[in-house]
This record gives sequence, structure tokens and C-alpha cells, in this order.
Amino acid sequence: MISKEEAKKRIEELRKLIRHHDYLYYVLNKPEISDAEYDKLMRELQQLEEMYPEFITPDSPTQRVGAPPAEEFKTVAHLKPMLSLDNAFNEEEMRRFDERIKRELGKEEVAYVAEPKLDGLSVELVYENGVFTRGSTRGDGYNGEDVTENLKTIRAVPLRLREGKYGIPRLLAVRGEVIMHIHDFEELNKKLIERGEEPLANPRNAAAGSLRRLDPKETAERPLDIFFYEIMVVEGLKINTQWEALEHLREWGLKTNPLVKRCKNIDEVIEYYNEMKEKREQLSYEIDGIVVKVDNLEDQEKLGIKARSPRWAIAYKFPPREKITQVMDIIVQVGRTGTLTPVALLKPVDVSGVTVSRATLHNFDYIREKDVRIGDWVKVIRAGDVIPEVVEVIKEKRTGKEKIFQMPDKCPVCGSHVVREGAYYRCTGGLSCPAQLKRSIAHYASKGAMDIEGLGPKIVDLLVDKGLVKRISDLYKLTIPDLLRLPGFALKSAKNLIESIEKSKERSLDRFIYALGIPNVGEHMAKVLAERFKTLDNLMNAREIELLAVPEVGPETARSIVDFFREPKNREEIQRLKELGVKATFEKMEKKEGILKGKVFVFTGALKSFTREEAKRIVEELGGRAVSNVSRNVDYVVVGENPGSKYERAKQLGLKIINEEEFKKLIGRA
Ligand code: IVH
Repeated sequence: MISKEEAKKRIEELRKLIRHHDYLYYVLNKPEISDAEYDKLMRELQQLEEMYPEFITPDSPTQRVGAPPAEEFKTVAHLKPMLSLDNAFNEEEMRRFDERIKRELGKEEVAYVAEPKLDGLSVELVYENGVFTRGSTRGDGYNGEDVTENLKTIRAVPLRLREGKYGIPRLLAVRGEVIMHIHDFEELNKKLIERGEEPLANPRNAAAGSLRRLDPKETAERPLDIFFYEIMVVEGLKINTQWEALEHLREWGLKTNPLVKRCKNIDEVIEYYNEMKEKREQLSYEIDGIVVKVDNLEDQEKLGIKARSPRWAIAYKFPPREKITQVMDIIVQVGRTGTLTPVALLKPVDVSGVTVSRATLHNFDYIREKDVRIGDWVKVIRAGDVIPEVVEVIKEKRTGKEKIFQMPDKCPVCGSHVVREGAYYRCTGGLSCPAQLKRSIAHYASKGAMDIEGLGPKIVDLLVDKGLVKRISDLYKLTIPDLLRLPGFALKSAKNLIESIEKSKERSLDRFIYALGIPNVGEHMAKVLAERFKTLDNLMNAREIELLAVPEVGPETARSIVDFFREPKNREEIQRLKELGVKATFEKMEKKEGILKGKVFVFTGALKSFTREEAKRIVEELGGRAVSNVSRNVDYVVVGENPGSKYERAKQLGLKIINEEEFKKLIGRA
């Protein structure tokens, strides 16, 4: 075993090496080692830190994903207001901007820095003595949300600055843009669809949504990137121009955009704009224009700020990718969650290189507001979105033959009745609608529901695509030979799956209620309903007023439940499930009062005898509570194999830490 002294030295060496390779990779885009070699360094560091946890520091490259999920984001004040930009839409407006600047500065010619305008999410990052200490979203410009832990998971965010040519400033606040690359966005959407979730509209929304996950682990799974473009505050250094500022950022290891350009005058800016407009189509990320900044920082100071935007910078936006075409028809698509989306079928047009033949109309309110009719000529745009959108009707082109569209009252896919929820219409045939089938099955089989082991989204896809399962109840008709015909199944795996499907017939009523996938009915609500109604029939026949009488059931939930059971197709499917042997009987939750009453548990690391879900359930059944965050309120921290950072935190707080055996004793299962 390596001595403590040696370990300390090697740990520091490894961290330096890793930071250096991060810099080569992210900032210079010139990696010198392979991914495998990099991973090896990382693993060695991890092992040494595991051996000597006392050497772990928050800025160690291993500490990117450590923090537990947050309850909510804290609000933090920015060190300096995060301003927004005025827009220009054509050359004339740009030249006027330049004229004004020259006039106010009394100069013949002004140099600018021109940069791509990244279409992402603006953030502030603060480094104190070189260590990343706080990051926040723009918010209202003065206060933002503290997303430090989430930013740490982005590999291009250095946890510690490089010394570089300029040394480490005591305090540095920088601004940058978090983005998601288009191919990563498309991959993410594919995954979301596979898991039965709604895809995201565009890379910007995806970046924003990913950065704002309460659980940093989830952010870590999202492929985010960042470019830095402004120094907001720096102590002890004199920087003269924006061009120099960018150079400083790079020296500190903060990646800047490689396409930035220093322009001697406005003509060069215009030239740059035209180049970028062409280049835009080849970039791996979305830009929606260029940002033009007076290069000289003293001049910036002189020009000052107007309202909420600087007078020394402007966004020169690209023209939207838009075309005029005709709406041939309006159809309705049913999403995986049952939401009905009206879609315009268009006379195909080329919108900057892409043929567009359909465009989303979002929802019925949108159609009414824009007054889109079948036969109308409309303006369609292709923003960063996957699906083009109809933005405007050209009313002058109307002939009087246009037809007004109505939302159907029956689902176009399954014929179940449609209900309106706010701006949205939804098919209520959750159990029987083919459009929702994959999602319904995956949910039905999931851990908290019927817990059918081995029936993940991939297998669900297979079963549905091969036509073996047309409704949930078909699961109970599957045979081993059926499964053996599917790719990837062998006798053993087929047997196992059939067995777990069989086992699911014994699941309790509350799990079954949850498994039905009624909107607004989560695991907890399902327990409440089971407790109150005791049988499925009682619940199915409950009137809205009876549901509302249950504490915890609000009007929306009551409505969803009634809508769900009112649909004959759902009732028929439930009947089939019962006939096939699904019992869904009420199990009184035996609260062995006293044993764990009022005790709060946190689990970290893998347990041998239980899954995390099971352990939590046991605690709850015995009257205790299982939470995911370590805090002083926690009574027991149960540590399994390979515990995470919760273990460290528990030690710091001096909480009671027990292992699996001790936990088993506690619950009387030793
Ligand atoms: S500078 C005072 N530079 O555009 C300086 N902003 O419309 C303000 N943006 O909220 C920002 N790329 O999120 C700047 N190279 C760039 C940018 C950029 C994208 C975004 C930023 C800002 C928005 C303003």
C-alpha cells in the first residue's frame, strides 16, 4: 500500500495532469492523450482519494458530481448586473449603431470584437483565489438561481483556474453561455422518447432544462457545453480590451469561442456577419446572430449603460428561417402522454435548405389566437426547433374558402373521449390507446408500479413493434415460445420474464392504481386512494364529490380520476386484467408502530439484500421516513457498498452511520 505521504504527492500530481489535459481538450481543442489514458489517470486519482478521503478537496476533478439533490435553488445576487443586449436586424441599423458610437467617442473609426451569438443559457461563474465557488443563471439580471453544483458537472467548466500568463486573480466573475450541441440534443430526445417522455423543443430549452435539474446527477447525464465571453469582475488586473479579456479567459482555462474576431471597423463587422450567416449551417450548435462589442474597455466605460443593456454592444440577429406556404390540412397527433397536438400539413417549401411539409400549431388556443384555417397562406419558421412552426396567417390572401378547424372530441387514434385541460386536449384512453401504449406499459412495469423485472423500455418496444402486445393485458398472455422468437431472448431470460409478469399479479392495490398511469396520480396518491377506497371497484365507481372529500385529493386529481374511469375502454381493459388474474388486493400497511416511528433514514451505496426501493418501503412500512438528503434531521445513514458523498457528509455532521447488517437488526430481519 502506498504511504500517506506518497499518496498526497501523487494525488496532487494527478490533479495537475488532469487539469492540464482538460485544458488541452476543452480550451485548445488539441488533446494529447486518448480517452482511455485520461480515464486511467482519473481512476488512479479516484482510488487514491478513496484510500485517503482526507485529501479530497471540493475542486478535485473527481468532485464534479457529488452534491445531493436540492429541494430548490437558492437565489443569489450577481456580483454585477447581467445585462441584456439591444438588437439590430439589418445592415442599416448596424451602421447607425457604429455612427452613434463614433460620434459619442469623437473617433473616426472604432474597432469591435465580433462573436457568434450563442443560443443557450447565460450564466455567471465566480472564482475565488482560482477556485470555482459559485455559479448562477441570469434570472432577472440582478438575482439568479444558484446552480453551482450543476455547473460543476459540465466538463468544460474548470473547477480551478490555470495560472497561465496572468496568474490567479483573487476574485473573478465571468459570464458565459451554456449550450447543448445539436447532435447531443437529438440523441437526448431519442432517449427521452424511448423512455416514454416528451421530447424537448430545441437545444436551447434542452440546455436550460438540463442545467436546472434539482439533482446534479441528472445534469451530469446531460451533455452540456459552455463558452465564456465576458469578464464581469476581476480584481488586481488591468485589462484594456475585450480582445485581451478573451485572451485572459483562455489563459485561465475558460474556453472561448474559436470564431470570435477582432474587426478594425464596421465594414469588417458586416463582412464577419455575412460569413457567419453561411457558417451557421455547419456549426454543431445553434447561433442566432452575432454580438458586436466595442473593443476598447475604456470606451465601453465612456459609453455606459442604458436601462438594462450596454450602449457599447449590440446583437446583430440573423434573419429568421422563414417562408410563406399554404395549409393543406390540419391533423391531430396524439403524443405518448395522450396530449393532442394539432399539426398543419403544408404545401412543401424549402426553408434554408430543409423541405418543410408540416408544422406544429402547438394547441387549440394557438390556432384560435392566430386564427389559422385550412387553406390559409401562412408564414412558417424553422428556429432551432426540431419541428417548424406556423407563426402568422397572411390574411390578405384569404379567398373565403378557408375552413375553420375544430378539435375532435374522440381520440383520432383509439376513439376514446377527449378532455380539455387548460390549453391542452388529452385522450383519456391511457390504458388502451396505441399512441400511448409503449409509455403505458413501461410505466405499468416500472419499479414503483407492478415491478415487472426485465421489462424495460427496450423490451417494451420490441413487444409492441413485433405486434405481440397490443394492450397491457396482452402481457399476461405472453408465452415462452413467443419471447424466444424475439432477438436477444434465450430460454432462461424468457422464463425469467414470464415469471416476473406472473408475480406481478400479486401486487397490492395501491401499486396497481399507480400502475394505471392516471394523470396526477403518483405513488403517494395511489396509496392514499387505496387506503380510502379499499377495492378497485369502489375507486372506479367513486363520484367526483367523494374523491374531493379525501384529504390530499385536489380538484385536478379528482377530475383526472373520474375522466379515466369514465372511459369504457379503460374499464374494459381493467376487466381483462382482472380476468387474467391480476388481484390488486388492498394490503393494510402494517405500521408496526414504534419500531421506526418518526425515524429518518438516508441510504447511500448498494445494499446486498434489498434494492433501494425495497429498503425505503420497509422503512416506511415501519413508520419511518426515507429521504435523499443528508442533514442534521437524519437519524440513520445506512451505508452499503461504494457509498457516495452522502457518507462523507454524514461523517462531517457526526450522524449515526450503520451498515447493512445493523440495518437488518433494526428492522427485525437479521
Ligand atoms: S455579451 C453586456 N456575448 O445573448 C454583455 N452575449 O441577447 C451581454 N449571448 O443574455 C452579453 N452569445 O445570453 C454576449 N458572445 C456573446 C453572446 C451573448 C450569446 C446571449 C446572452 C445574452 C443574450 C442577449
